[in-house]
Amino acid sequence: MDLSGKNILLGITGGIAAYKTPILVRLLRQADAEVQVVLTRGAREFITPTTLQAVSGRPVRDDLWDEEAEAAMGHIELARWADLVVVAPATAHFMATLAQGLAPDLLSTLCLATEAQTVVAPAMNQAMWRSPATQRNVDILARDGRLLVGPAEGEQACGDTGPGRMVEPEDLFEVIRQCFAARCLDGLSVLVTAGPTEEAIDPVRHITNRSSGKQGYAMAAAAAAAGAEVTLVSGPCILPPPPGVDVIGVTSAQDMYDAVHARIAAQDLFIGVAAVADFRPAQSTGQKIKKESVGTRFEMAFEENPDIIASVALLPERPLVIGFAAETQKVLEHAREKRRRKGLDAIVVNDVSRQGIGFNSDSNAATLIWADGELALPYQSKQSLAQGLIRHIADIFTARLAGAGQESRAS
Ligand code: C5P
Repeated sequence: MDLSGKNILLGITGGIAAYKTPILVRLLRQADAEVQVVLTRGAREFITPTTLQAVSGRPVRDDLWDEEAEAAMGHIELARWADLVVVAPATAHFMATLAQGLAPDLLSTLCLATEAQTVVAPAMNQAMWRSPATQRNVDILARDGRLLVGPAEGEQACGDTGPGRMVEPEDLFEVIRQCFAARCLDGLSVLVTAGPTEEAIDPVRHITNRSSGKQGYAMAAAAAAAGAEVTLVSGPCILPPPPGVDVIGVTSAQDMYDAVHARIAAQDLFIGVAAVADFRPAQSTGQKIKKESVGTRFEMAFEENPDIIASVALLPERPLVIGFAAETQKVLEHAREKRRRKGLDAIVVNDVSRQGIGFNSDSNAATLIWADGELALPYQSKQSLAQGLIRHIADIFTARLAGAGQESRAS
């Protein structure tokens, strides 16, 4: 998609990831967007205005009190000029400033004054990201309708490993393009399940799986960004709630089944991404099982959990039903069979035997299989994969509506 005529205000704050921002500016300029860069004082320690002026083609702004720049375009005018504000990287300090609605410098003032959507790409040390104060600010920003993108996980400049890296410029560019893309799920209600489930053995032990919830959360975020009203029924995960999404936390498969069926009647689409435990301990005891009472061998009986997605697909007034499947062999063959067996409109399958794909990773590759076709989506971040999937799922929804319309006219 080309971004000609779109005005993007790129705010850069003082993090090492600032060195990646000229790449983002170049991508935006190549798509014909106008880019106005605004630096904080901290950002100037990491990147020079000269570099950013050269790639953006505009003088960089960095001072609320610069009379000459203010005379050319005042800060309120600049806030109105922006069709989208992007803060990348966003430090913990800047996020706190934004969450509190403070305006000590030009960038924070612009963020407060703009009515345009704001995309925030956090970047900081993993402990700073996990700190309760930052997480509180993340919640506030999400509730204020700011679109948080990332952080990604991995090795950090300080030597730590964990969440806190700024998402790559290419992924951020994709998110920005999506912000301008047609809102393909406008007015629709979408229910998404995500994460693992926990099946209790006794009050202190449970059986679970390695699902991180990242792909499901990304699907919920992408559906919300596409204009849908999204409810996310989530098993236990440590992820922040996606912006603008109503999150219902559940524990077991039975809880998830109950939460889904309590809400399904109002939904246009159901997207089952959760890794639901197929079985649960047949007897969960009310008291902790003592090792001494078991002996040297512990045998446990399991009973089947309800298949949530299959039960939704069986409803007489059913939404469009999309499943996910992780396979390790005969990936497409097994997925096609699973789609038919569970009565799904479409299934998204990924080959989890491939390195860097699936559980807990930040990236994924997948194939979308529906009654009339198959589409392979290449290896990319879970966020951009989710956006691509949502676009195609919206097309399948529209095609089903058109089909239903034809059927009712024929009858
Ligand atoms: O059978 P499998 O677990 O591979 O199927 C995956 C799909 O089925 C996913 O969409 C998952 O959310 C859904 N599922 C479910 N309830 C279960 C098991 C799987 O909704 N008990």
